[in-house]
Amino acid sequence: MIRRCSNNEFDTIYEIINDGAKAYKGAIPDDRWHEPYMSRGELQQQIKEGVDFWGFDENGTLCGVMGIQEMGDVTLIRHAYVRSSEQRRGIGGQLLELLREQSEKPFLIGTWIAATWAIKFYVKHGFQQIPKDRISDLLEKYWTIPKRQVETSTVLADDKWFKTEKRHNNRL
Ligand SMILES: CC(C)(COP(=O)(O)OP(=O)(O)OC[C@H]1O[C@@H](n2cnc3c(N)ncnc32)[C@H](O)[C@@H]1OP(=O)(O)O)[C@@H](O)C(=O)NCCC(=O)NCCS
Repeated sequence: MIRRCSNNEFDTIYEIINDGAKAYKGAIPDDRWHEPYMSRGELQQQIKEGVDFWGFDENGTLCGVMGIQEMGDVTLIRHAYVRSSEQRRGIGGQLLELLREQSEKPFLIGTWIAATWAIKFYVKHGFQQIPKDRISDLLEKYWTIPKRQVETSTVLADDKWFKTEKRHNNRL
């Protein structure tokens, strides 16, 4: 069952993020890796800034979480993590598809360039990497992340974003 996480599930969300994020160790640049990957303070800040977490609940146990954040003309998928023991069972895919039903706006997703498995996951769900020369602009417009993270990240977008972009370029 997929449902919105409640306020009293903060500790579980924190635990799932930091367990799922172990996949980054040795993959993302060493200077970007730290443990825990996301501190409680950062998670609190993300929620305060409007990241709405949804969870995949299997018999009362949350196995994966994914956030959605409205950012003006786009919707962002934020912090997608499935427990390391439960990855590649279709949980992330189901969460992603359900979250995509929550907004009519174009969706964007940011991830590490080095997280090739995550890129593969989003591509499998119809997202495409945006042109390289647009990545830093978009990361700076819609995300609040350090410069070093901008340099080491990529952005994927859905069809709606590419269509909107094409219409905008045709008008120029
Ligand atoms: C990325 C993530 C959220 C996907 O959730 P999931 O439940 O594992 O994914 P699903 O089972 O729905 O989909 C699996 C597909 O995703 C891709 N994938 C996910 N994990 C992978 C891995 N470790 N290696 C290779 N491909 C992987 C593959 O395309 C896979 O399809 P396949 O099994 O047929 O090859 C989850 O694997 C995860 O938490 N990973 C670690 C943290 C992370 O990278 N988060 C993304 C932040 S943007």
